[in-house]
Amino acid sequence: MVCFSLARCLALLGSLTAVLAVTTCDVTDYGGVADNSTDLGPAITKAYSDCVSGATTSDASDTVLLVPSGDWAIATAVSLTSVSDFTLEINGAVYLVFNADLTGTIFSFDDCDNIIWQGEGHIWGNGELWRPDGDLSTYPSRPRLVRFQDCNNVDMSGVALHNAPMFHVTIIGDNNVAHDMSIIADHIGETDGFDISGNNNYVHDVYVENGDECVTVKTPTNGFVGENIQCYYSAGKRNIILNVYYKNVTHSYGDGGIVLKSYPTASGTVKNATYVDFTFSDIAYPIQVSDFWCPNEACPTTTGDLTWSDITFTDISGTGDDTTRPTIQVECISGYECENIVFNNVDITKEGGATVTIQIENACGSGLSEISAC
Ligand SMILES: *[C@@H]1O[C@H](CO)[C@@H](O)[C@H](O)[C@H]1NC(C)=O
Ligand SMILES: *[C@@H]1O[C@H](CO)[C@@H](O)[C@H](O)[C@H]1NC(C)=O
Ligand SMILES: *[C@@H]1O[C@H](CO)[C@@H](O)[C@H](O)[C@H]1NC(C)=O
Repeated sequence: MVCFSLARCLALLGSLTAVLAVTTCDVTDYGGVADNSTDLGPAITKAYSDCVSGATTSDASDTVLLVPSGDWAIATAVSLTSVSDFTLEINGAVYLVFNADLTGTIFSFDDCDNIIWQGEGHIWGNGELWRPDGDLSTYPSRPRLVRFQDCNNVDMSGVALHNAPMFHVTIIGDNNVAHDMSIIADHIGETDGFDISGNNNYVHDVYVENGDECVTVKTPTNGFVGENIQCYYSAGKRNIILNVYYKNVTHSYGDGGIVLKSYPTASGTVKNATYVDFTFSDIAYPIQVSDFWCPNEACPTTTGDLTWSDITFTDISGTGDDTTRPTIQVECISGYECENIVFNNVDITKEGGATVTIQIENACGSGLSEISAC
């Protein structure tokens, strides 16, 4: 390097270091071909082991595993275990190739930390091929799309996910964020958008259209925030959880709006959940808190002792569907009353001007004439 002043030398050195600091591991250098036929799976695995793993720094954006723009076929699952500090950037369109024997998760990260998932790309799951005539039982072990298992500090955004054979995104761990991305699937079951558990996770600015859960927190969870969420046709949210906060959610043409449900034999605690600024349109169950969630079967004798408390619904408006189902239903176990269920400015009408009914059983709180004070 030739430079004639100290300042100029330092500037040159600085820009050189900045360039050198980013290592890009492009799948095309590891067997990937954007011909919509060569299997992308092994190329990603090889790019990881031959390039990413030796290059990481403490900054995930310094090391990028890149799937450039173009059309890519993926036929085998990618499973990365005990990985950290890198970015997976998908800018191309990735098509999942149908295979009746394919199971597991197409992109799975196990025991990971500080991973960025980003890009302008799309992953097409072609889920309809695993659900002939909408049948969910033909290939019961069909693949899921993305899973972060025991992962912390994941930042997931960008890449649009389409029609997974099964669930789209599962994140289990702490301090993870999913944001600014969309999931669009058939309006059918077992197509969950985001299933999240762990502590202090955050989902914001996402769009989900599917036929099952939209953005759901599962047990165990302590600390979750969901903001600016749009759900279309989705089913409800199932929470066994502590300290949850959802804000600014619009939900249209779905089954469940804000649904907190458990099986009558469940034990545990759901405490401190807050739902603010929800707008519903034509929803079957706009607000439902139920200890009697027994899909596809009659509920067994109640043996559970699940307690719900400090659940607050604020600024909730819109419409339920035009059936006789209650717009608000809170049905808890006798002896384990739901406590401090608070409704602030909750005004839900019915499509077509149908009569609004509110059903409250074994619960106390405030904000509705139907609920008694605790
Ligand atoms: C890529 O191949 C899949 C079939 O596996 C097909 O559905 C898709 O349309 C193809 N993409 C392009 C851009 O041709
Ligand atoms: C609410 O969320 C929508 C997207 O779902 C967003 O466009 C809008 O800006 C949000 N409103 C506020 C007040 O954050
Ligand atoms: C209730 O949950 C919110 C949001 O997750 C949290 O900020 C707050 O500290 C929690 N309150 C208590 C008493 O734990």
